[in-house]
Amino acid sequence: MVPLYWLWLALTASLGPDPGKELVDRLGQGALVMLLLCLSMTPLRRLTGWSGWMACRRQLGLWSACYGTLHATAYLAFLLGWEFARLATEIPERPYIFVGLAVLLGMVPLVATSTQAARRRLGSRWVRLHRGVYLLLALALLHMLWVVRSDLGLWALYAAVGAGLLLMRLPPVASTLQRAPGLMTRFLKKGC
Ligand code: HEM
Repeated sequence: MVPLYWLWLALTASLGPDPGKELVDRLGQGALVMLLLCLSMTPLRRLTGWSGWMACRRQLGLWSACYGTLHATAYLAFLLGWEFARLATEIPERPYIFVGLAVLLGMVPLVATSTQAARRRLGSRWVRLHRGVYLLLALALLHMLWVVRSDLGLWALYAAVGAGLLLMRLPPVASTLQRAPGLMTRFLKKGC
């Protein structure tokens, strides 16, 4: 719904002086935010002990891929005007496009194996494959850094959140988080 609303704003020239670029930027940010939210679900489950977070993880991952696809499509439509031949000069001039493409292509096997059936079929290989999402996050951050260059405020925020999420995957941190719900219950009981 949100991307459709943005598209409508862009088509009615209500997205500022450069609506096409604004739409591409918003969709790119949307893809990155969804990816970060998707990666927050496991630490949140460990921290709270509530398994409901995991139901959202797949949806958020799919939304990230969806925003990424719309972002690339908006780039082709609004910034490239569907002139595919221009890609031959665009990619050497703006190599970050190649990095963005790598992220999008990297999402394909993750989306294709995101179902419970694929998880069961792949067993431990599923976990190894889906760990690749951290590489995709690093590449997406590199892609954004290349675009924003000196205007680092928002990029630094996303990078800090990404680094924090990666830190929470480290076994000592992950096991501390896992113990958190029990510790909290004991603490609350003592308080009462
Ligand atoms: C084929 C794939 C992709 C292409 C062709 C592409 C292209 C672009 C382009 C041209 C820009 C700069 C637009 C401008 O001039 O301001 C951009 C920015 C950006 N892209 Fe991508 N991108 C791709 C994939 C992705 C993916 C998968 C993500 C995230 C997961 C992403 C996240 C971003 C972000 C966060 C920005 C910066 C937006 C801003 O400045 O506010 N991109 N991308």
